[in-house]
Amino acid sequence: MRRNIVAGNWKMNLGFEEADDLVNLIAEKLDEVETETTVIVCPPYPYLELTSDLAQESNFFAGAQNVSSFDNGAYTGEVSAQMLASMNIDYCIVGHSERRKYFHETNQEISTKVVKLLESGISPIFCCGEALEERESEKHFDVVKTQIVESLFNLTGEEILDVIIAYEPVWAIGTGKTATGAQAQEMHAYIRSLLTEKYGKEVSEEISILYGGSCNPKNAKELFANKDVDGGLIGGASLKADDFLAIITSF
Ligand code: 13P
Repeated sequence: MRRNIVAGNWKMNLGFEEADDLVNLIAEKLDEVETETTVIVCPPYPYLELTSDLAQESNFFAGAQNVSSFDNGAYTGEVSAQMLASMNIDYCIVGHSERRKYFHETNQEISTKVVKLLESGISPIFCCGEALEERESEKHFDVVKTQIVESLFNLTGEEILDVIIAYEPVWAIGTGKTATGAQAQEMHAYIRSLLTEKYGKEVSEEISILYGGSCNPKNAKELFANKDVDGGLIGGASLKADDFLAIITSF
């Protein structure tokens, strides 16, 4: 269902105590604000249990940052969708550009992960986005289209309704260089048009499309004011409770 969503991707940051403090602070501050926004906190795996336990009694959901493309078995170092589901994890980021870059994830592998998550009742937060040279050579629409077609378009109209899409231009991630509201809206509208073409308007209008890439309390309002921008996937600014809360209340 289309909703305003703000998800924090902590990436590989914080020690156990810092993580414990941050998630508790977020929970406390969320209790003090009135918001319709769906809030998701995605810590590293070792901190998922404390996050999901707290999420049960708070106004946010717990999400993972990655999932294995395999089912349970002899895959050392991996974590399956079944395991996440057994810990009441509701969301999981897949296809982040850092996983594509450093762990060589392909559209096909990401497609498998999306299916595994959906089979376990977990909503994938599917990331897509172009690199700087792809935008400069005006290939950004084609790149995002290929990512979406190859990783999501095997799903049925019913299945895709459980997917959240995050457009994260790689040149904006961790660089302090944000897409303008107009650039985000242009790509988000394009993504929604692809969804309309494949699944029809009724379905495409129900899917939340988030923006990610140097989103902060200063630029969140301008980004979220656009009609096809349904929220954000936040990296650096999600590590500071005040900044994260300011973004959550930027609609
Ligand atoms: P930053 O907000 O740090 O640019 O990271 C964005 C991101 O990659 C979220 O997944």
